[in-house]
Amino acid sequence: MNQKIVILSGAGISAESGLKTFRGAGGLWDGHKVEDVASPNAWQLNPELVLNFYNDRRRELLTAAPNKAHLALVQLEKAFDVSIVTQNVDDLHERAGSTKVLHLHGELLKSQSTLKESLIYDCNNDITIGEKCELGSQLRPFIVWFGEAVPMLDNAIAEVMEADKIIIIGTSLQVYPAAGLVSFAKRGCEIYYIDPLPANSSALDIAIDVSYIHGKASIELPKLVASLLQKKTN
Ligand code: OAD
Repeated sequence: MNQKIVILSGAGISAESGLKTFRGAGGLWDGHKVEDVASPNAWQLNPELVLNFYNDRRRELLTAAPNKAHLALVQLEKAFDVSIVTQNVDDLHERAGSTKVLHLHGELLKSQSTLKESLIYDCNNDITIGEKCELGSQLRPFIVWFGEAVPMLDNAIAEVMEADKIIIIGTSLQVYPAAGLVSFAKRGCEIYYIDPLPANSSALDIAIDVSYIHGKASIELPKLVASLLQKKTN
């Protein structure tokens, strides 16, 4: 049986595809208050602003392409059982060719009914006010907003609990419950963390043995993947 590798990816893995990260100078939350666009309250107060914010993100995504980091993870599937648990709402892991991708915070290229959560639709265009689900309620972006439950959390925990290795890439580990997933790793699980500025997060306190790799995903991830594949064949 192949060893299981779980990837915990965040916005940093898509930065080199031209998609902005959230935090830090020039990040998405630098120009917006999170609570103004990414919360149920924002949706109640100003749905148009919320739709516009995600419509802009969707348009950007449609012009972006996977980078070398996304592609490296596809190579990893040759020799390992790879599961990707991503906080990202883009589809760049899927477009690169990864086969097991779990989205914790939703997906930009889907819309959702505001009446029945299970009504989810493919969405490649702007969502507009007045656009309705089949039951007649306004469509919203299929995004898990701050203050909302994370429906895929239990599935993500199950993946992490089975991991022999975990690779954390491009996340500031600021947002829970996603940041806390690593605490479910089993004893002896090898943990790598690739980021130009890895977070000094309390989420990693439990993980005594983290190998920090300071650098960009598109450079460091292909190197790590090559070395893991090499070790496997030796
Ligand atoms: P952040 O913007 O908080 O963090 C991005 C991380 O990527 C930082 O640690 C950067 O140092 C790193 N980074 C930047 N460029 C990189 C590169 N080229 N290669 C590798 N790493 C790079 O993004 P997330 O941690 O993903 O949630 O944010 C988590 C959640 O906060 C998002 O899913 C979103 C946001 O609010 C919701 O909207 C619900």
